[in-house]
Amino acid sequence: MLIDTVWKPHSTEFIDNLEKEIDFSKIDFIVANHGEVDHSGSLPALMEKIPNTPIYCTANGVKSLTGQYHHPEWNYQVVKTGDSVDIGNGKKLVFVEMKMLHWPDSMATYLTGDNILFSNDAFGQHFAVEELFNDKADQCRLWEEALKYYANILTPFSLLVKKESGRNSGA
Ligand SMILES: [Fe+2]
Ligand SMILES: [Fe+2]
Repeated sequence: MLIDTVWKPHSTEFIDNLEKEIDFSKIDFIVANHGEVDHSGSLPALMEKIPNTPIYCTANGVKSLTGQYHHPEWNYQVVKTGDSVDIGNGKKLVFVEMKMLHWPDSMATYLTGDNILFSNDAFGQHFAVEELFNDKADQCRLWEEALKYYANILTPFSLLVKKESGRNSGA
């Protein structure tokens, strides 16, 4: 399973690196949490390699991806809040729509068992480090970038952030 891709200018690097990590025939499905290019830009290059692979996304995600890449024949699997996919070892991916955080197609994906939230742009940053995990980054810069991103991208939707987190925690 693969969650999101990368910006199109990095497609070749992305495909090459991914191929070093995994045999493409072992990618059972792709989760597209968001249609914006920084998440989906390398999807066309990837789909050329694995054309029938299911892509899990929201109904608005299908609109966004089809509108940009013109591949209505891709194997879209439309999901909504609460839908899940069993990935074995007692673990599931649970999908949570986050409409307007910050686009109509936005969704988060939660991996049970390992308790990892693939939070999409809700906790996004315009920041990358060479290391794989964020705890290796300069924490001062990391939090500064997180604050900057939230202030610039999500502040207009703050009421929705509260609503979504309240709804999803059962409150
Ligand atoms: Fe976005
Ligand atoms: Fe983004």
